[in-house]
Order: sequence, then structure tokens, then C-alpha cells
Amino acid sequence: MPDTKPGSNQPSSEQDQYNRGGLIAFLFSFIFVLLFFGYVAFIHPGVDLKENLQVAQKMSAMVETEVDVSKISEPWVPNKDMVAHGKKLFAQNCATCHGNEGKGDGPAGQALNPKPRNLVEGPWKKGGGYTGWYTVLTEGLPPSAMVAWAFLKPVDRWALVQFIDSITKAKVNEDAAKIAEFAKGPKGK
Ligand code: HEC
Repeated sequence: MPDTKPGSNQPSSEQDQYNRGGLIAFLFSFIFVLLFFGYVAFIHPGVDLKENLQVAQKMSAMVETEVDVSKISEPWVPNKDMVAHGKKLFAQNCATCHGNEGKGDGPAGQALNPKPRNLVEGPWKKGGGYTGWYTVLTEGLPPSAMVAWAFLKPVDRWALVQFIDSITKAKVNEDAAKIAEFAKGPKGK
């Protein structure tokens, strides 16, 4: 654009003024950003994650008491911690089909044929008891919806077995020595 007042302002010096303003604005925001990060890094006390963790731990402790079964060397021996651990695993993995109390009335099981077993009443296709239930957990009952749970650690499968034993009326009399022999053999893997 031609200058309307010749001589009053050279276009080149106007250009200089404009750039200087831009530089000042740039430096200003640059310093602002530096100060902001400096504040966050060195001055702001930060968020205490530990505090949040403690709250979360307290809440989960209210929901359920964790049991540590990792030190149990013979998980096939009846033990109330194992039953408690099994109860938790049952709620997580099995209740959708077998129902919260194991009565075979879980929401996901209603459309299945055959239906999930009522674990309180039985009966047992694989003989039941510690060895029968453990076998079913390891191998499943193909071709039914009862799949193999061999991906669960042996201690977890034994915990489920002990939980079933704690709720069922269809108990099986088994010799403790026989159970131990089974558990230490290839089928107890
Ligand atoms: C997807 C649904 C489903 C889930 C989840 C499920 N089951 Fe089953 N379960 C079944 C069905 C269906 C049967 C009956 C199969 C048959 O009669 O052939 C069955 C049968 C059984 C039996 C009877 C065994 C026997 O010898 O007759 C036991 C014990 C059992 N389930 C335990 C469990 C445990 C423990 C879990 C969790 C780890 C579990 N099930 C998860 C569907 C399920």
C-alpha cells in the first residue's frame, strides 16, 4: 500500500516496529512458560499420590479381607484361609454361571444346555470331592460351557475346591492320603 503521508513514516521502519513488538511478545510468553514450569517443578508441593493410595487401600479392605495363601505348601489340606481365598475366586470367575451361592442360578447360566451345576446339591459327573472337582477345574467338562481352568495356579484351583466343599451338601468321603497322592502326582499339576 502506498503511504498516504509521504515522509512521515518509512514503510521499512514500520516493519521494524512491528517485528520488535512481535519479539517482545515472544520473549514475554517464553519467560512466562519458563516461570510456569519453574513453579511447577520447584515451588508447587505436588499431588500426594500416597495419600490417594492409602484411601484406596482402606476402601478395598472394607470390601474384602485379603488372605495370603502364597505360603501354604500343601493347598489340598483343608484350611479356612484357602476357603476364604476360594470364595473370592468363585465370586470373580464362577458366580456368573453358578450363582453367588453356587446354586447353579447365575445370570449367564440360564440359557445354557446343560445348565451350570447346582454345586450345593450336586451330582458329580467326575466323582466330586477334592480329586473330582480338581480334575474338572483342570480339564473342564467338554463339550459343555464348563471350560478348563488350568490357567489358574494349582493353589487357586485347590482354593476353589475347598470353597465348593465348604458349601456343598453332596460331600464325598475321601482318604486324606489319597488326596495328597493325587495332588503330588501329574494330575495335581
Ligand atoms: C460359562 C458358565 C460357567 C462358568 C463361568 C463356570 N462353570 Fe462350572 N459348570 C458349567 C456347566 C454348564 C456345568 C455342567 C456341565 C455338564 O453337566 O456337563 C458346570 C459344572 C461344574 C461342576 C460339576 C463337575 C462335575 O463333576 O459334575 C463344577 C464342580 C463346576 N462347574 C465348578 C466351577 C467353578 C469352580 C467355576 C469357576 C472357576 C466354574 N464352574 C465356572 C458352567 C460354568
